[in-house]
Amino acid sequence: MISLATEHPARHPNPTAKASALAYVIFDRPDLAKAEKYLIDFGLRTVSNDGSMLFMRGTASAPYCYVVRKAATPRFVGIGLEIESMAEFQALARLPGASPIEPMTWPGGGRCVHFSDPSGFRVDAVFERSPAPSLPHRPPLAMNSVDLAARVNETQRPPLTPPDAIRIGHVALELADFQATSGWYARHFGFIPSDVQVLPDGSPAVAFMRLDRGDTPADHHSLALAQTFAPALNHVSFEVIDTDSIGVGHRLMRDRGCKPAWGPGRHFLGSQIFDYWHDPWGDKHEHYCDGDLFTSDYPTGLHPASREGMAQWGQAMPRSFTRPKLAFSTLAALIHALRHSPDVTPRKLLTLLKLFG
Ligand SMILES: [Fe+2]
Repeated sequence: MISLATEHPARHPNPTAKASALAYVIFDRPDLAKAEKYLIDFGLRTVSNDGSMLFMRGTASAPYCYVVRKAATPRFVGIGLEIESMAEFQALARLPGASPIEPMTWPGGGRCVHFSDPSGFRVDAVFERSPAPSLPHRPPLAMNSVDLAARVNETQRPPLTPPDAIRIGHVALELADFQATSGWYARHFGFIPSDVQVLPDGSPAVAFMRLDRGDTPADHHSLALAQTFAPALNHVSFEVIDTDSIGVGHRLMRDRGCKPAWGPGRHFLGSQIFDYWHDPWGDKHEHYCDGDLFTSDYPTGLHPASREGMAQWGQAMPRSFTRPKLAFSTLAALIHALRHSPDVTPRKLLTLLKLFG
């Protein structure tokens, strides 16, 4: 039995705000046409591309869920979080480090306050963004089983087209300053740890954090945070309708020369059926379906960290999934973290390397 030590991420009793949704991710890319082509093959739809900004959406009613800014250096910039309450939005705007409230000129309008989280990722608190009309997506396939004849005198022929990405599901970040960053999201946006993987010394390795939607079921995680020695995106994830969408997506992505990262399989924590693909800049994008939904009262689970504990079936998580890029900047980040991050010790890094690297 693993004990719940105080250093594990915990829900905050009185957060500044309770975000209602993960609104979008923001990337910088040197080639918007290349980014758009990849994302269309992945299953997103173009909202607009004026050569300097690209907005993509799913079939759900969010006006966009993926923003690409044209920039010389490709990088993950940050996320947007939807805020429903005016009082909470104003409370966020009063926090130290918050930008002034700005009107948004992006599709759907609204107002926005920008932050940097303790790891340096941009976080936008978004208020009053107008929805767009939903787009149709393929309904889930009717499945025959020995107990149920759901389909008689009909064949099963899912279309061989990019899977409909319905909505953004979650973002997974790697962090040096794990405690400060996970605490910041809990304290200011109401994130609740659904499940935490811990190292043999009891310190957290990965936290899967969900939104506090009260009695309304929320995704097992909208944010996953992993202890490493450098802030980086691990992956972004988008929901599709069923396993055949994932299978068709796998076939098409492979045929189009995309580089697979991991999958298909089914996760343990969150239970999603998943499939991960590298984009042209090496950032991982996930198709998933059938994830767990928890209400706010569901207790936090603690589990020993392991690669094998990441999937119930399919390949165990490959070591390449969490391996940092070989670059001078990686070495510089390592030295910086060892000197300055209270969460990073040589012993912990060796343990993480043994388990995941
Ligand atoms: Fe994921």
